Amino acid sequence: MNRSGITRKLVWAVVALCVCVLIFAILAYRPAIATVTRPDPRLFDPALVVRGANLARLGNCVSCHQSASGRPYAGGYPVKTPFGTIYGSNITPDPATGIGAWSPTAFRRAMREGVGRDGSHLYPAFPYTHYANVTESDLGALYAFLMTRPAVRSVPPANTMIPPLGFRPLLAGWKLLFVRPQRITPDANQSAAWNRGRDIGETLAHCTACHSPRGLFQQEKRGAQAYDGGWSGGWYAPPINAHSPAVQAWTVERLDAYFRTGLSTAHAAAAGPMGSVTYNLARAAPTDVRALATYYAWQMRDAPAARLEPPLPDRQALASQGHPDGAQLYEGACAVCHEPGAAMMVAGRPALPLGTPLHEDNPRDTIQIVLKGLHPPVSPRGPYMPAFADALDDRQVAEIVAYLQMRHGTGPAWKNLEKDVAKARKEGE
Ligand code: HEC
Ligand code: HEC
Ligand code: HEC
Repeated sequence: MNRSGITRKLVWAVVALCVCVLIFAILAYRPAIATVTRPDPRLFDPALVVRGANLARLGNCVSCHQSASGRPYAGGYPVKTPFGTIYGSNITPDPATGIGAWSPTAFRRAMREGVGRDGSHLYPAFPYTHYANVTESDLGALYAFLMTRPAVRSVPPANTMIPPLGFRPLLAGWKLLFVRPQRITPDANQSAAWNRGRDIGETLAHCTACHSPRGLFQQEKRGAQAYDGGWSGGWYAPPINAHSPAVQAWTVERLDAYFRTGLSTAHAAAAGPMGSVTYNLARAAPTDVRALATYYAWQMRDAPAARLEPPLPDRQALASQGHPDGAQLYEGACAVCHEPGAAMMVAGRPALPLGTPLHEDNPRDTIQIVLKGLHPPVSPRGPYMPAFADALDDRQVAEIVAYLQMRHGTGPAWKNLEKDVAKARKEGE
């Protein structure tokens, strides 16, 4: 090829590249939406604000939007992802650092499309991929609720994404690949409660965000894999579909109690990130919580426990032989609360073997509970379990966990426990 041939090819390659960049820029571009003066909070209909408060609780908004010191909606809570940490924004009505200058239109666009008022794309750590089905009137109620909160002047820390993912326009590509808004239409064969439960669970409450597995790009797996178990902040959110490893059935009554009190006496307490979900559900409208229970009991209707509650194993002698150190440590640190007959058990608390963690296909939740303990999920009255992260080393935690699984577990023995304990110490709150 002569020189002018090469030059021509080069020119074409550059032109093609420019066209691609241009097409991408057009696809990624979102205009800014003009600022407004902060609406006077007294002008919002109080009934609308109350409705918005309920929706915010169902949506668990405060969990990701509180400040480090616990100020609601002031932003700064770290959402950890494999690609870096994204901090929840300040969504109080402070015009300078919050959303006080956002019009209802800007708020709607953020919730539905994941685009900020200034036109920048937002990370899907903010679960807008679930909000396509939230109705206009519900969005109006949420807006009214947020705009009537106390304005807090506070700027969250800067995100720490691995390069080049700090470059927000790339998110337009992610959306193009993975966002498939699914409109939910009522199912006439199901009850009103079931339909309401599905609406809340699949949209605002974004239960799949933690309970579904994710792909390489953090996109949620859908279809048959929905609710098949996922990860959140170093904890494992077990399957809540036909693959639920629970050893007693999750009935409507039991789920309802679990969501409202953070404790199912037929299972266990809500620990880790599920604790804050139940904290908020306990403060939401009871009929909506009941609707969630109706829908998720149906999701788990084909789980093994839903058909048969098998007798629970107690292989105490065998486990003591297999893990003598674990047995001894358990006697010293745990038996006082967990052995049948202990005062805590008499108070109507579930027995250790009933909790799902010991029956999961990985040891993570059991390890996390031992390391971090249990913060009372719903009210200071409990249940409470102390953290053992400082009292026990990795080997000791691994020993106790191996002992407990051998004694009570129903799945294959967990391997490499010590390594998992070391990992769990670094992850999760
Ligand atoms: C799982 C955590 C999580 C939950 C739950 C959550 N958010 Fe967020 N939200 C975030 C994060 C993280 C950001 C920042 C995204 C970014 O910087 O790209 C954000 C951003 C936003 C923004 C854009 C603010 C701005 O300045 O750009 C709005 C509005 C918002 N969230 C409202 C809500 C509402 C309302 C709810 C409840 C219905 C909610 N969020 C629930 C994590 C969450
Ligand atoms: C922020 C992440 C997160 C969200 C959102 C979330 N969960 Fe969970 N969930 C978890 C984790 C982690 C566990 C395991 C904690 C434990 O063992 O106590 C769990 C446990 C559960 C359990 C107990 C399962 C068992 O067999 O013990 C149920 C039921 C459940 N979640 C239902 C829901 C529903 C319904 C929603 C939506 C309203 C939801 N979760 C939203 C993280 C989450
Ligand atoms: C001061 C009392 C107390 C002590 C000591 C204690 N726990 Fe707990 N533990 C609780 C309470 C309360 C719960 C929540 C009720 C429940 O879920 O059973 C709980 C829950 C658990 C759970 C999750 C629920 C389940 O059934 O799977 C595990 C696992 C667990 N504890 C293990 C341990 C281990 C191991 C030790 C010792 C290192 C220990 N606990 C020490 C009070 C205690």
